[in-house]
This record gives sequence, C-alpha cells and structure tokens, in this order.
Amino acid sequence: MRRDLGARHWVRGLELGAGPQSSMAPLMLALADQVECSVYDPATLPAVRERNTQLLTTDDAQRLQYTSRDLRALEGRWDLIVMKSVLGGVHREHQSTLSDVHATLKHLIEDHLQPGGALITLDNGCTGLSSLFAPFGARRNGWRFFEERDFPEAQARYSFGVLSNFSAATRLGWVGHRLDDALYAFDLMFSPLFRRHAVHLHVYRREP
Ligand SMILES: C[S@@+](CC[C@H](N)C(=O)[O-])C[C@H]1O[C@@H](n2cnc3c(N)ncnc32)[C@H](O)[C@@H]1O
Repeated sequence: MRRDLGARHWVRGLELGAGPQSSMAPLMLALADQVECSVYDPATLPAVRERNTQLLTTDDAQRLQYTSRDLRALEGRWDLIVMKSVLGGVHREHQSTLSDVHATLKHLIEDHLQPGGALITLDNGCTGLSSLFAPFGARRNGWRFFEERDFPEAQARYSFGVLSNFSAATRLGWVGHRLDDALYAFDLMFSPLFRRHAVHLHVYRREP
C-alpha cells in the first residue's frame, strides 16, 4: 500500500462510514499526520471512539478527530480518504446503478481530494459462493456486491478471498471469531485458485 501511495507526505486523512465493529482510522494514522474518523450515524460515535481508543497509544489517539459526515454532502478536501464496506450500502442494487457508483467515486476524487491525493476503497465482492451467505444476512436490503469489472480504472487494485464475505464474529461472538479465522485460513490458501474474489481494494489518485 505504501508503494502505491508513493513518498508524498500526507497531512489530512478522512475515514468515511466508520462503524462500531470496524474502523480504518487507527491504521490510517500510519499514513497521515491527522485523521478524521467520521460516522454516518452520530449515535454510533461513542462506540467507534471507544473501540479505536482501546487500540491506540494516548499520543496516537490525540491525532484522531471524530465527526459525523454524509459522503453525499461532504465539504472540504483531504490528502487521503478511505472507506470500507460503504459503497455497496450507499448504492444498493434496487436504488441505484453502477453509473451512480462511478459518479460518487469521481465526485470524491475530483471534489474532495487534494491534488495528488488518494482515495482507497474496500468493498464486498460477488463470488460464486456469495448466495450461500444469504441466510446469514449477506445481501440483506439489496446490498451491492461488486465484480472486478464494475469498478472504474484505478491506480492499483487488489482482491482477496472467496469465503471472507462477511464477519461471523459480529453475529456469533467468539464462535464467530473462530469461524472467521478458519475462513481466512482457507482464503489464504485457496484465493489464488479463484477468479472472483470476496474483497476488492482500489487505490484512486487525483492528478497532482
Ligand atoms: C457495512 S457498514 C461498514 C462500517 C465500517 N466501515 C466497517 O467496515 O465495519 C456501512 C457503513 O456505511 C455508513 N454509511 C451509510 N450511508 C452513508 C453515507 N451516506 N455516508 C457515509 N457513510 C454512510 C453506515 O453508517 C455504516 O457505518
């Protein structure tokens, strides 16, 4: 990832759509001086803050700021924007099209990145096995699962996994944790054998 982002000094980072189960902001502190961890639903802010604080030293925790933001009504520009598992929910299949997804990405890059800045997206992928996860709530409410060809051209792209399509830990507690570990081990071994993957990561850059 560092190789894809180059030697640029990143001052301001923004996480969009952080959640109580997972936030990228602590990892972003390794890339940017100051990171804004934003949630869509302000009610989730205390849980997100508490989770992050437990993971960080006091000094690092002070470099995080917490806000509530809607990616469709952003104001400001950042060097680095990261969002994980957000696009598929904002652009549910019955409410929007792939053109809307592309328009959102273009808008974030052109209107909210500093020149030379980077947008990193992590999204759920559609695999041949995705339908097996429906009973566990996957694709509930028309959540959009992506194929690689659904994304616009990126500076870098990575994909991984076949079974790591959802978090069992958030639904089944410690049993789910063990299940996630087992699915991850399977994915580490067998991912290279599959063409369609469960997680897609893209790095988009704004022209300097
Ligand atoms: C599946 S959760 C992912 C949460 C977290 N990023 C993670 O990976 O665990 C989807 C997130 O998108 C957020 N979200 C939904 N609509 C949004 C919007 N318009 N702008 C920003 N975030 C949004 C939700 O509040 C939720 O936190």
